[in-house]
Amino acid sequence: MKIIVAITGASGAVMALRLLQELSAHHVYLVVTAAARRVIRYELGDPVLPCARCFAAQEMDASIASSSHPVDAMVVIPCSMKTLAAIAHGYTDDLVVRAADNVLRMNKRLVLVPRETPLSLAALENMRVARQAGAVILPPAMAYYFQPQTVDDVTDFFVGKVLDALGLPHELYRRWSGPETGEE
Ligand SMILES: Cc1cc2nc3c(=O)[nH]c(=O)nc-3n(C[C@H](O)[C@H](O)[C@H](O)COP(=O)(O)O)c2cc1C
Repeated sequence: MKIIVAITGASGAVMALRLLQELSAHHVYLVVTAAARRVIRYELGDPVLPCARCFAAQEMDASIASSSHPVDAMVVIPCSMKTLAAIAHGYTDDLVVRAADNVLRMNKRLVLVPRETPLSLAALENMRVARQAGAVILPPAMAYYFQPQTVDDVTDFFVGKVLDALGLPHELYRRWSGPETGEE
């Protein structure tokens, strides 16, 4: 698959790093905003972000700025409330929002991982609009039924959900298979 991964300046850069590691068999275009660079430094230091091509969000002349450059899907992880608003309203003033707009226009899968809490009315409304436009809204909301023990377990659960939304196989979390009665 050709997949665009965008990292914006919301908390949770580790989710993006883990997703990029899981997508190593795919052709990944990475876009990182200026705010994301700062948050990545605060949260992770200076990690290696694996990708085939890496762009800054200001690079509006990148191949993926055009819908003539085919991609299969895009994930914005984590997605700031600012970028969520811009995607919801088609305000395409950086490469993240322009590429997301292309993905929606071409009817491809767009997965947004919005990170904020509590949520403002504007953010809730922007999620509704983005969902109506075809995006999958996938907030990093934890489930506890598989008894996570570590922060890595929590991160893997969120990233596993993103891979589910992309239709990609993984074993990042234990799926619910009914109560412990031998039921499948
Ligand atoms: C340490 C830190 C954590 C942040 N966490 C969030 C967050 O979780 N969600 C959010 O919407 N914005 C968060 N922000 C604010 C965004 O970085 C800011 O709105 C920025 O303009 C987003 O720009 P971008 O969407 O172009 O990356 C955070 C900022 C900092 C410095």
